[in-house]
Amino acid sequence: MNSKQLGNTGIPLPELALGTWQYRGGVGPLRAGVELGACFIDTAECYGTEPLVGEAIHGIRGGIFLASKVSPRHFRYKDVIKAAECSLKQLQTDYLDLYQLHWPNYTVPIAETMSAMESLVAMGKIRFIGVSNFTAAELRRAQAQLSKVRIVSNQVRYSLVDRSPEQDLLLYCQANQVSLLAFSPLAAGFDVLRRSDPRDSLGQVAAAVGKTRAQVALNWCTSHPAVIAIFKADKVEHVRENCAASGWSLTPEQFRFLASNIAGYRSRSPLERLARRLARRALQHAGRNLGSATRMDHEQRP
Ligand SMILES: NC(=O)c1ccc[n+]([C@@H]2O[C@H](COP(=O)([O-])OP(=O)(O)OC[C@H]3O[C@@H](n4cnc5c(N)ncnc54)[C@H](OP(=O)(O)O)[C@@H]3O)[C@@H](O)[C@H]2O)c1
Repeated sequence: MNSKQLGNTGIPLPELALGTWQYRGGVGPLRAGVELGACFIDTAECYGTEPLVGEAIHGIRGGIFLASKVSPRHFRYKDVIKAAECSLKQLQTDYLDLYQLHWPNYTVPIAETMSAMESLVAMGKIRFIGVSNFTAAELRRAQAQLSKVRIVSNQVRYSLVDRSPEQDLLLYCQANQVSLLAFSPLAAGFDVLRRSDPRDSLGQVAAAVGKTRAQVALNWCTSHPAVIAIFKADKVEHVRENCAASGWSLTPEQFRFLASNIAGYRSRSPLERLARRLARRALQHAGRNLGSATRMDHEQRP
């Protein structure tokens, strides 16, 4: 499996990682992925999969790059520390390789949250800090609060059918040595990709390169130098197929052919992105005013 450097760290990571949101495959598919070189596993406190991931990495922890996420409702200093400790317990390990802020929280000062993240690094409980679902501007603001360490990654939705990061984030990540961890690289269900591809351009390229459509879709994502793709697969055969999406390259022509032939791909305009963020902010404020027992929209999302 090809590897890519994590941010500016010099640490090589496989360009394909194993996701565990709504993962129901048990230990087997994760172990199979690790054996095939995808030794980077992504989970989150809100996925409910940390105990299973802990089981899957038992005895092989040293060979795994382990990432988890703290939910926005835990962005107060003490809560970040508590959430990290809880994840460590669930995962049966004493450190996380990457700890990510799952979504921005507009009701807690980012300085407070980043200060807690920096403390976790100092305590040796996490090695690297990442964010998720942050815009380039939010990433810059979060980075500005850190005095000693750098944010190494931003995990965002990116696939042939959602290319919003291409507007600015991808360029920012490349220029600033931040890894872009692409979630839902198969559009969270391969049928979605098929429906967006009425002329079966994936099939055409797959036939030309002797690969499957899923492999071509994943390889398209990782063609970008800053991108590592995180797929989820419950089935061992899908894991095997997906891990073979690395180690070869699409030609620039094939890359462009796919980019221009997948119909109706989404690229949210800056206005739409702003509207979504304002809605999230309003929800978070409403949640805070109603009390901590209220579950907010973003907490139920992956
Ligand atoms: N940071 C965030 O906010 C966020 C949000 C969403 C996801 N994520 C992360 O990203 C990971 C991946 O994203 P995702 O789960 O949304 O979607 P995804 O990987 O794009 O798609 C998963 C779906 O594709 C199917 N699949 C996998 N390989 C296949 C293949 N070779 N052929 C046909 N179908 C295949 C899976 O089926 P089977 O399971 O049946 O094999 C599953 O239904 C998550 O697990 C999570 O770790 C993060």
